[in-house]
Amino acid sequence: MDRHAPVGVYDSGVGGLTVVREIRRQLPAEQIIYLADSARLPYGDRPPQEIQLFARQIITFLLSRGVKMVVIACNTSSALALPIIREEFSLPLIGMIEPGVTAALRMSGKGKVGVIATQGTVDSDAYGRMLRKHGVKVYSQACPRFVPLIESGHLNSPQMAQAIDEYLGPLRAAGVDALIYGCTHYPFLNSQIQGYMGQTKTVDPAVEAVRQASLCLADMGLISPVKKNRDLFFTTGDPKEFARRGARLLGQELDRVEQIDLNAEG
Ligand code: DGL
Repeated sequence: MDRHAPVGVYDSGVGGLTVVREIRRQLPAEQIIYLADSARLPYGDRPPQEIQLFARQIITFLLSRGVKMVVIACNTSSALALPIIREEFSLPLIGMIEPGVTAALRMSGKGKVGVIATQGTVDSDAYGRMLRKHGVKVYSQACPRFVPLIESGHLNSPQMAQAIDEYLGPLRAAGVDALIYGCTHYPFLNSQIQGYMGQTKTVDPAVEAVRQASLCLADMGLISPVKKNRDLFFTTGDPKEFARRGARLLGQELDRVEQIDLNAEG
């Protein structure tokens, strides 16, 4: 394997760009190949078997592009697919759940941790199970309206303010001292959520996930010494739309966005 080989990253939509942002910060010499499965978004309400099928298709596609690792920049896929498909692939797959738990345990003083996520991630209890093993009291909350509002750019809308109040009100009242962003879309709401939650520490699993990805690459001697190629973005949806939304959320233009039909890839 070549050290210059790209790192594959995928999500259902723009959420994984919060992980891209973190990879660019911690591993600036890595080329990223990103896939947004926008045509099948949201993942949050889909059954586990479907999420597993999508994960297999996407990882197979990323492998065909020569990636040396895949960062599953989607908590729903990390919770519902990663434990099932991990053994099917021989390259390293980095998910969001364990890193999110590790980071939350470090940050929580009182051991009262809130988890906000999609319905699928909450139902899987992936975060809850791991956190409770450490004696933590867990408060999970599904936030199904967040992803559609973020995808459509309504970050500062009255609908968003209302959704934040409805979903986070009970967690604030419970006095959680750390709040895990259990969906990669949610760090885009960081200022709104921090404003609402006051003293609660917010946890973006991407920071720890990318740290683990970096250790894993270093272990294999695969850290890229210099960035040779530009990042590439693929979407199963409308590439212009993805480029527009992505650039607005990231605050910088996306290098190149192409459309891909995963079913045609075989
Ligand atoms: N960003 C994703 C996650 O981390 C998926 C959101 C969705 O498509 O529902 O769970």
